Amino acid sequence: MRIVVLRTSRLAAESIARFICHSVREQPDLVLGLPTGRTMIPVYAGVARQHRRLRADFSRVTSFNLDEFAGLEPGHRGSYRAFMDRHLFSRVAIASGQTHFPGEHGTAPRAYDEMISRAGGLDVCLLGIGLNGHVGFNEPAARLTPYTHHVKLMPSTRRANSYLFGGLSEVPRVAVSMGIGTILRARRIVLLATGKDKSAIVRRALSGPVTTRVPASLVQLHPNALIVLDSAAARGLLGP
Ligand code: GLP
Repeated sequence: MRIVVLRTSRLAAESIARFICHSVREQPDLVLGLPTGRTMIPVYAGVARQHRRLRADFSRVTSFNLDEFAGLEPGHRGSYRAFMDRHLFSRVAIASGQTHFPGEHGTAPRAYDEMISRAGGLDVCLLGIGLNGHVGFNEPAARLTPYTHHVKLMPSTRRANSYLFGGLSEVPRVAVSMGIGTILRARRIVLLATGKDKSAIVRRALSGPVTTRVPASLVQLHPNALIVLDSAAARGLLGP
């Protein structure tokens, strides 16, 4: 695990945006695992802004989002599909047939893992981290599910996602998430965390024991993981 700390959240997001663009330029048929969340908004804005200059052509890229709410109407404004269309897909000309979300079009969760395998597996899986240490929607638990599955969302996770909806009551209670095994099989993992609110969970995830109670701590087991933090999120790691 390599940890890179950059001074500001803007620098951290831009370094990930450049990393994605370079990866696409090197490998035009890249298979990407993609997260949503507020941390990723400046990353996707950076990709949108810089991809032409960095000669990253997304027309052959395939993407698999980490998670999606269950039971929303297609095109619902709170869906992660709508988030990705708004922040990335409409801005880099990736064909919508090459972008995938778990549970979309009524597909069984496990079929998602088969689709990822058929695409050759994830080359790069970008990750955020929830305040409770979740990755995708793999919530802290005594046991984690390795493959794509339905999840009952924790109240804190529903609250953290209420910015996408009219209010907390509209946030679905169930979602579909890639499993931790699906994520750890990616050839490369890149995790981004920014802001002081994340410093405590970043410390637990990266310097605490590997435990299903902090799903992001399993990233410590990955042979090719890059962690990018801003100085606020890294504060707990660097000591007082
Ligand atoms: C959401 C998503 C995660 C994301 C996390 C952090 O619930 N399901 O994939 O990494 O929470 O979100 P944010 O960047 O808004 O803190």
